[in-house]
Amino acid sequence: MNRLVVVSNRVPDPTAAAQAGGLAVALESLMQRRGGLWFGWNGKIAEPASSVGVTQANGIEFATLDLTPEEHERYYNGFSNAALWPVLHTLPDLLHTDRRNAEIYFATNARMADALVPLLRPNDLVWVHDYHLMPLPALLRARGVHAPIGFFLHVPFPAPDVFSILPDARRLLRDLLAADLIGFQTPNDRDNFAATAAKLLGAARMGEGSLVYGGNRVRLGVFPVEIEPRAFAALALENDAAPATERLRRSLAGQRLLLGADRLDPTKGLMQRLAAYRGLLALRPELRGAMTMLQIAAASRQDVATYRDLRAQLERQAGAINGEFGEADWSPLRVITRAVPRGVMAGYMRLARVGLVTPLRDGMNLVAKEFVAAQDPQDPGVLVLSRYAGAARQLNGALLVNPHDPEEMAQAISMALDMSQDERQDRWQTMWRAIEGTSALAWGRGFVAALINAHRARLEENVANDPVALLAAVAEPITAPASRH
Ligand code: G6P
Repeated sequence: MNRLVVVSNRVPDPTAAAQAGGLAVALESLMQRRGGLWFGWNGKIAEPASSVGVTQANGIEFATLDLTPEEHERYYNGFSNAALWPVLHTLPDLLHTDRRNAEIYFATNARMADALVPLLRPNDLVWVHDYHLMPLPALLRARGVHAPIGFFLHVPFPAPDVFSILPDARRLLRDLLAADLIGFQTPNDRDNFAATAAKLLGAARMGEGSLVYGGNRVRLGVFPVEIEPRAFAALALENDAAPATERLRRSLAGQRLLLGADRLDPTKGLMQRLAAYRGLLALRPELRGAMTMLQIAAASRQDVATYRDLRAQLERQAGAINGEFGEADWSPLRVITRAVPRGVMAGYMRLARVGLVTPLRDGMNLVAKEFVAAQDPQDPGVLVLSRYAGAARQLNGALLVNPHDPEEMAQAISMALDMSQDERQDRWQTMWRAIEGTSALAWGRGFVAALINAHRARLEENVANDPVALLAAVAEPITAPASRH
């Protein structure tokens, strides 16, 4: 079996109880089963940056490096999170452009490529993840890496006119197209990408699944990220009577629980969600005292101004709601701005009558799938889900809402609270059936298999077009170590 080399900006901390973000969650089971090398940022900032550190945990080799303060500020906070992130989520108003940030973004990718290449072995498969590393496929090719290179975008891809407002939009696309396979969460993301590559670069689409650019064919695929539904269901059951769940249950004293669990991020629609809850409290006074909303909003990317502002706004609004509707013995809303360990979260989800997953836009949103898996099949909670989360394609037993419209959301929550047990069970069954046969492991394996096929097909095509390449392909293994190192 070829060794799998996963490259992502965020590398999970194997010792931490709570991992922030879907990427780490999605990849963990594949890496634990298959082993391999996981390369990326170690989460530290240092000047000068130390060389790559290698550690081993759970059969996975982790090779990580520091970011310098400038890289952290400009590559991670600046270009990745204040330019690419909002634009890819179609929130162009939040775009902050800065030429120097873009330069450092490309330079940091080049430094990562330089650090990775000496670690590669013949016959490795390289799988690059997410928007931080869009230039990496071309940078690796330029350093003599002939290995199969796959890229998976965990976040959405916007329409061509939106993507084109990014500085260096064409360069980003060109660099990405050096991969053999580019994977997306939904057909909509894949089609937006193909349309953008056609419009900005003149790439030609060949059927649904590939693009031809610069004489090279690049495969495009749709690979919706999954969780481990049965393992998560077991975790929720196990935590049903855990001390943390019991404490929450006792504190509710029979009230129904509305639960939101997100990173504190402008894409998650948190302010609109609070507005919806406020609307519900005004609309149905009889619910006061009979329900509590718990919003876990794990603080994230607090060096980015938009994120800090959002936190302040959220805290202000939460205070205002409690001030306006609270009683001496009842608060309508509880907010926690820290991450909660997975098991505890699973227990909370099982306890909730309503799950609120209302991002303005989201690549997939694994919390929605986890909420479904966590429920008691006899007495399940109701999922209120944004139409603009990738998960909405699979979870149509949810109450699907427009996350920009607090009134519509308030009505959906109201309906969820009134829903009969029969309907809750039916809806839950529909959603469980959609996910029970899936797994994060199968997702990862599916991508890797498609990558091997895409690489093989590309070699054959190149060989057909170019007899010199034929000789090279026959003479060399699929992966040649980089000549420079
Ligand atoms: C999302 C992104 C990931 C990222 C995660 C956490 O899931 O798709 O690439 O790792 O958020 O964000 P952070 O900035 O803390 O890595």
